Amino acid sequence: MHQLSPIIALLGLWAGSSHASPFDKAVTLNDCLTKAGVPVDTSGSPDYKLDTSSFNLRLNYTPVAVAAVTTTKHVQDAVACARQVDIKANAKCGGHSYASFGLGGEDGHLVIEMSRMNKVVLDNTTGIATAEGGTRLGHLAWELWNQGSRAISHGTCPGVGAGGHVLHGGYGVSSHTHGLALDWLVGATVVLANATIANCSETENPDLFWALRGAGGSMGVVTEFRFKTFQPPQNLTYFVASVQWPTEARALVGVKAVQEFAETMPAELNMRLFIASRFINLEGLYYGDKAGLQAALAPLIKKTNATLALTKTGDWLDQIKHFGGGGNIDQGHGHEEHENFYSTSLYTKALSDEQLQSFVSYWFKQAKANKRDWYVQIDLHGGQNSAVSAPAADSTAYAHRDYLLMYLFYDRVDKGVTYPADGHVFMENFVGNITQTMDKSAWGMYINYPDSRLDQKDSQANYWGAHLARLQAIKKAVDPDDLFHYPQGILPA
Ligand SMILES: Cc1cc2nc3c(=O)[nH]c(=O)nc-3n(C[C@H](O)[C@H](O)[C@H](O)COP(=O)(O)OP(=O)(O)OC[C@H]3O[C@@H](n4cnc5c(N)ncnc54)[C@H](O)[C@@H]3O)c2cc1C
Ligand SMILES: *[C@@H]1O[C@H](CO)[C@@H](O)[C@H](O)[C@H]1NC(C)=O
Ligand SMILES: *[C@@H]1O[C@H](CO)[C@@H](O)[C@H](O)[C@H]1NC(C)=O
Ligand SMILES: *[C@@H]1O[C@H](CO)[C@@H](O)[C@H](O)[C@H]1NC(C)=O
Ligand SMILES: *[C@@H]1O[C@H](CO)[C@@H](O)[C@H](O)[C@H]1NC(C)=O
Ligand SMILES: *[C@@H]1O[C@H](CO)[C@@H](O)[C@H](O)[C@H]1NC(C)=O
Ligand SMILES: *[C@@H]1O[C@H](CO)[C@@H](O)[C@H](O)[C@H]1NC(C)=O
Repeated sequence: MHQLSPIIALLGLWAGSSHASPFDKAVTLNDCLTKAGVPVDTSGSPDYKLDTSSFNLRLNYTPVAVAAVTTTKHVQDAVACARQVDIKANAKCGGHSYASFGLGGEDGHLVIEMSRMNKVVLDNTTGIATAEGGTRLGHLAWELWNQGSRAISHGTCPGVGAGGHVLHGGYGVSSHTHGLALDWLVGATVVLANATIANCSETENPDLFWALRGAGGSMGVVTEFRFKTFQPPQNLTYFVASVQWPTEARALVGVKAVQEFAETMPAELNMRLFIASRFINLEGLYYGDKAGLQAALAPLIKKTNATLALTKTGDWLDQIKHFGGGGNIDQGHGHEEHENFYSTSLYTKALSDEQLQSFVSYWFKQAKANKRDWYVQIDLHGGQNSAVSAPAADSTAYAHRDYLLMYLFYDRVDKGVTYPADGHVFMENFVGNITQTMDKSAWGMYINYPDSRLDQKDSQANYWGAHLARLQAIKKAVDPDDLFHYPQGILPA
């Protein structure tokens, strides 16, 4: 270890004092918010506790203040205050980010808590719905269905916020048929870093609209979404097929059959391979009845020896309830749900035989010995008939349309327990053993399944791939000082 020269030490001291802790500005920030008439959660109050509790208990961060906004004007004033006081600011919608990005992903931000703004209105004549920027997915689905038997495509958990979900992708058991949640967005109202309001769509501020659909959290605060909607079929069938692959050799044949099937699987079928520490399932949703499902699945069942353990036909809300875990769909402000975990993600094309071998070998030789409650979920994301892969790769900021497979690696421990300091290595090695022979440009990661351990450079490259340069240029135009900073967001060019 070498010694610091007195000059360097002095410079360090000087730099330290010029970067005072954001918490030193708490009084100034709260004064600004109060003067502007922005509701603020009082520290320690029940609302404060609710609004600052993270979904992932492993990553909880303390904000400088929480603006409990109920109007677009509140959002503008909150943004203006953050700018004036020089504090980073983030919108929080459902608060379900795996890396707690709604809280800023680090201590010391202004949280603009959107979840009290959740009005949803469907225009029955145009099929266009408006949803405020704090709407949760379950509430959105509930309202669209009840106001006119309509829907958009989205993920499974009713407590997840449309804010984070739609603005960064939004993949669900309807996506192979109906695309990502962001594919249903036709316009948005956004509060920009300079506290002005901008509308955007394909024809109005198209660059902003492009960037919102994949990297929205870095660009502004969406106060209103405008969605086109579809009418779901009357009969949908959700299913679970149980798989027994007792040996590495059988798993190799099985996974290979699944990925081959994914290439050409019918548009009406949505499916994932779910590998847990103690069981393996194929599960998903079919747009049609049970007979149609059985016919669509037959070739795969034959090759994998899967057995259909559950099939249930119902309407759109029935499948939302099923995949949402059976609880209340209509979630508003004040939803509490927590897990204690580390997650990471991956997108790949079909794996080569060598890559498959490496994946299955790690799974059987290493992962099976880990008795924590881990799972690997492999969504059949792309393929010839996938609505996710149908739009041009550059049509939105979502960078990974062309990948066949989308993986979520999720490793959890009990709520009162400390996640092991070296626990993440287990999942990192899983990813490493799949990607070790791949070129860096041959795989990506999903910002809605973030890996909290990535630095900002790697996150930007892995989440936004070929779209990064354009996103950084748009970021520079709309938020040059990086007001909406978070540790894995887009940096201005
Ligand atoms: C139980 C569970 C199930 C999930 N299932 C799926 C799934 O099936 N498919 C899938 O794709 N993902 C799924 N996810 C991941 C989920 O899509 C992301 O975590 C998503 O970002 C959460 O959004 P949020 O609004 O709840 O989170 P928040 O933490 O509130 O926000 C996440 C990010 O979005 C930004 N943001 C939020 N609202 C706005 C806004 N109005 N304007 C601008 N920026 C905003 C925040 O600043 C932050 O950067 C799941 C997550 C959980 C916890
Ligand atoms: C919307 O349309 C549906 C079906 O036509 C109808 O049942 C419903 O009452 C309408 N809702 C509104 C708010 O007009
Ligand atoms: C944005 O669009 C909304 C809905 O169309 C409209 O009411 C509002 O006036 C527009 N705002 C701006 C700044 O263009
Ligand atoms: C399909 O939906 C219709 C209308 O809701 C219903 O009458 C019928 O029973 C459903 N069929 C099945 C197989 O569930
Ligand atoms: C399916 O079962 C047959 C007969 O038991 C067996 O030979 C084959 O290896 C199995 N395939 C898989 C993928 O499990
Ligand atoms: C593959 O897994 C092994 C453990 O079995 C680990 O030691 C190795 O680092 C992993 N390889 C990569 C490239 O991650
Ligand atoms: C606010 O920022 C936007 C995007 O950069 C810009 O177009 C607009 O002119 C700015 N408005 C003001 C009043 O500075």
